[in-house]
Amino acid sequence: MSQSSQVDPAKLAAARAAIALVEDGMKLGLGTGSTASVMVRELAARVAAEGLNLRCAATSAATAELAESLGLRIETLDEIGWLDLTIDGADEVDPQLHLIKGGGAAHLREKVVAAASDRMVVIADPSKVVETLGAFPLPVEVLAFGFETTRKLIRRALDTLELGERDVLQRLKGSDPVVTDEGNLILDLHLMQIPDPVALARALSAIPGVVEHGLFLGMCNLAIIGREDGTVVELARDAEIDADMLAHEGE
Ligand code: A5P
Repeated sequence: MSQSSQVDPAKLAAARAAIALVEDGMKLGLGTGSTASVMVRELAARVAAEGLNLRCAATSAATAELAESLGLRIETLDEIGWLDLTIDGADEVDPQLHLIKGGGAAHLREKVVAAASDRMVVIADPSKVVETLGAFPLPVEVLAFGFETTRKLIRRALDTLELGERDVLQRLKGSDPVVTDEGNLILDLHLMQIPDPVALARALSAIPGVVEHGLFLGMCNLAIIGREDGTVVELARDAEIDADMLAHEGE
């Protein structure tokens, strides 16, 4: 039931280290994305082997489907009420454990679930660790109603923060718009660098057509970075990050 050698060893190492934090009787939030999928498979294997009694909420329809296919029972967040621990992936992690999420267009539900958790643990490979957020385009979930107006207001906010002249691109799948689990659209903000994530988060949240942006600030308690050799590094907030751990700028 455990995963084959085709699984990325860094993701597997991070997922296994996070699953070791799970205790019988816990209420868990299950993240979305390729790393979170590895974690869900590890969790299902542990539940099958040890008969753990868990209550799980998923951060996306895709994760719910995967978890249920592996025998995990998924309940809604409201049925469970409050979670002990959420384990999720990230697109970028900085030394303050600020995150960019939403590469899989699931950051709205991910944020709702993380905000309802005592602890959020992020699992990632070293390519996600950065000194400054922003090389990964920042996903923003927006309403379809007034879509172009919202895009204009986002551009205006970026100008005010001196982040103007950047691409603000609608996310497409082929030629069709990506539609989130909540029926909204995604704009990806190609900012290259986000010098002040707090100011940007505040500015984006003030725009009515913005449903949620992919900046997770002060939400992550621990980042577990898996490495190719199967070892992990745990990052606590403001910890010094080994230079080898940083994603190369501009890649
Ligand atoms: C989903 O919307 C995202 O927030 C993911 O958690 C993030 O994109 C990480 O995904 P991977 O583990 O696939 O890189």
